[in-house]
Amino acid sequence: MRAILVSPPKEGSELADVEKPPEPGRGEVLVRTLLTGICGTDRGIVSGRLKFARPPLKKDRLVLGHEAIGVVEAVGSGVELRKGDLVVPIVRRGCGVCLNCKVGRQDFCETGNFVEAGIRGQDGFMRDYFVDQEVYMVRVPPQLREVGVLSEPLSNVVKGVEELFTLQRRTLWTCEDSTFQCRTAFVIGSGPIGLLFAMTLVTEGFNVAVLNRRDPNEVESKVTEAIGVKFEKLGDGLPSPDLIVDTAGSPVTLLKLLSKIKNNGAVVLFGTTSGEREEISADLITELVERNILVVGSVNASKEHFAKAVTYLSLWHDRFPEALRTMITSEVKPEEAGEALRSKTKGEVKTVLRWSQ
Ligand code: BGC
Ligand code: ZN
Repeated sequence: MRAILVSPPKEGSELADVEKPPEPGRGEVLVRTLLTGICGTDRGIVSGRLKFARPPLKKDRLVLGHEAIGVVEAVGSGVELRKGDLVVPIVRRGCGVCLNCKVGRQDFCETGNFVEAGIRGQDGFMRDYFVDQEVYMVRVPPQLREVGVLSEPLSNVVKGVEELFTLQRRTLWTCEDSTFQCRTAFVIGSGPIGLLFAMTLVTEGFNVAVLNRRDPNEVESKVTEAIGVKFEKLGDGLPSPDLIVDTAGSPVTLLKLLSKIKNNGAVVLFGTTSGEREEISADLITELVERNILVVGSVNASKEHFAKAVTYLSLWHDRFPEALRTMITSEVKPEEAGEALRSKTKGEVKTVLRWSQ
């Protein structure tokens, strides 16, 4: 069967012929991959830039891919999933030692000794079949067959928003009618994560603007229009936000906006590795302190966030069907993945690899 292999920290990727996995054992399922998504993390690995990427123990190659949807083909004993069920695998597997990992919250692993499928220490899902434990599978309803591949990136967004809500309980942040309609959220960056944050925050009742240095491309216009959010060019004349979500990892952009944020506002940091550099002044720190600004970084997601991501996707499947479909801007064969794994295609939001129908 086919698999996309990488050898971090070496550059490049290769489509190879590898052995089909064995029959699933107790508690395991055999999954036939339908689609896998390509994200910045994959490209970071392929370019050799992502420092923490590594193959499984005692191996020199890693199967790439952490955003996937597949169909259960066979089940081992003691498994509740059935042949034909659609599933999305979760990414991080805990250290088995710390309390967070023991209760399924490996997204908050304390030791750092976790592995992440397709990223560090465990083979990923860019392959025709994989065997994995049922506990790491999230069931997806049949109507999400074509868009359920967005569950993984969305799970990260769901976690970020959950943290925001948990932490903002420090103050009365809802409006007089107990909604968020009086609150403005700026989402920096209009990639898949930016658009998914926008959709989630709109669903939760915020006024949302997606910000970028440039004008929107056709897909970005379509999606933002369909979900009822503004696309604004970064620069002067923007209102003051209550919330900033950064998905670009750009300190230059972030620091420009930070001093505009309203009192008791919040900043969610999600973007990484832009490679930019910017100084932070004591004046800005003073302002953040004096105005009670919350800053939180967020990475990864637990199984409950995947499940909630599936709930959002089901809702949007009815509410914003166009937006969801439009976000998947191209479908590529695994044989042609090399190019797509090196760089973004023009106008891309999300590129996916098609493994089977
Ligand atoms: C994945 C996360 C992972 C992170 C590591 C992201 O692309 O979606 O699951 O924890 O990369 O930085
Ligand atoms: Zn990713």
